[in-house]
Amino acid sequence: MPVSQNQAIYKSANIIKYYEQINDLQPAEKTILDRLSAQLPTMKMLDIGVGAGRTTQYFCDRTAYYIGVDYSPEMINACKQRFPETVKRQFQVCDARNMSGFEDQQFDFVLFSFNGIDYVDHDDRLTILKEIHRVTKPGGIFCFSSHNLQSFETAFSFKSQWSWNPIATYTNLVIAGILKLLNRPLTLKEVQESSHKIVKDESHNFQLSSYYIRPSAQIEQLSHWFEDIQIYSWKNDIELVSQADRLVNTDQWIYYYCTSNSCKI
Ligand SMILES: C[S@@+](CC[C@H](N)C(=O)[O-])C[C@H]1O[C@@H](n2cnc3c(N)ncnc32)[C@H](O)[C@@H]1O
Repeated sequence: MPVSQNQAIYKSANIIKYYEQINDLQPAEKTILDRLSAQLPTMKMLDIGVGAGRTTQYFCDRTAYYIGVDYSPEMINACKQRFPETVKRQFQVCDARNMSGFEDQQFDFVLFSFNGIDYVDHDDRLTILKEIHRVTKPGGIFCFSSHNLQSFETAFSFKSQWSWNPIATYTNLVIAGILKLLNRPLTLKEVQESSHKIVKDESHNFQLSSYYIRPSAQIEQLSHWFEDIQIYSWKNDIELVSQADRLVNTDQWIYYYCTSNSCKI
């Protein structure tokens, strides 16, 4: 699946419009905002994949310094229109794969919300995590969400779609059929045996190729650069603590909250 096409999609006018009109924080993001509220006034924050500024409105006036970046110049223009820049509030076109414009260890809090990290291939994802670790102070916070492969496994299986609700069954079977078609020759067995996969899903009318990962694999991936990893379903503020909870969770995306370790950069 070509992830290289994703960047062009994030430049298109109808997608920008969509992100301009979504304003609410997701439940897991609210929890994180509440938890950090005492520290935010002294924090220097980097908001990666800021889109049209959904999260800007909640963080820019609460932090000591806020910079929103995105690899789509059109998204950054939308942010600048909505939130005029000041000394403490900046926006910049920047690809998370190369943040060489930022010095080492300068941010207290880095956010990559709403699965923005999922639109590059596996190697680039590792580069992004490394880059985020580099620009974050040791002990600084990194928070992001990522698609859950366990949810895709469910959506991709015809067997999992049957329920007592005939309308839901019908709708889910149709979606499973479209997913099968668009992701040919991918098989359910292959998904079941994978820790991560890049797939076409229903977001933005099946245009995007998105990286999906099992929560346990994401924790393993993060552990090179981050510690104290906590995870939440995007839907609520309940931490998924036990391995059993993490293995059975089929919510579409998961929030990860962790601390940058002091390993050499
Ligand atoms: C799903 S949208 C979310 C936008 C915004 N964070 C929100 O929650 O409304 C993902 C955003 O990440 C940006 N993005 C994806 N990959 C990126 C990368 N490698 N570097 C910078 N931005 C990226 C896209 O342009 C898009 O604006």
